[in-house]
Amino acid sequence: MQEIWDALAKRGHEEYGGELVTQLEHGVQAATLAEKEGAGDVLITAALLHDVGHMIDVPPGASIATIADKGIDAVHEDVGAAYLKRWFGEEVLWPIRHHVAAKRYLCLRKPGYMDELSPASVKSLALQGGPFTDEEADEWLKQPFAHEGVRLRIWDDLAKDPEMETPPLEHFIEIAERVRKN
Ligand SMILES: [Fe+2]
Repeated sequence: MQEIWDALAKRGHEEYGGELVTQLEHGVQAATLAEKEGAGDVLITAALLHDVGHMIDVPPGASIATIADKGIDAVHEDVGAAYLKRWFGEEVLWPIRHHVAAKRYLCLRKPGYMDELSPASVKSLALQGGPFTDEEADEWLKQPFAHEGVRLRIWDDLAKDPEMETPPLEHFIEIAERVRKN
């Protein structure tokens, strides 16, 4: 699993898609919010790593973090979940794979949610398919980790605060090590 931490060390300083925090700060902030809310190790780990798909090179040498700017949806949520499969079970992977779907869900079902999205997030929403329809939202919500997916998404949206105090990455690495399966 060291290679995950190496990827964060190598790419974590990159800006988080037009926001005021870096990729690494964003993940650590999301994990901090999860821990503050009393989430278990599984969801804290998912929060920490939900955007790892932005930090691994796909295709080799290309940063997918910037692909959205070119009008392509890089499906970083699928890339990240597939990458993490070696170490984690579905309870970690599902909320990561669905953190974009959760945004589409919240746009439809949480009043005022869309108005609070950052400009970068509004921009990517269009590429991601826009808000769910009623039918899509109902179907999505039936899935086993949907509730966790919504929680993760809310931390994700708040983890863009350049002033937030957080524990160091090492604190969350210890948590992720407890959760790993392989
Ligand atoms: Fe994120």
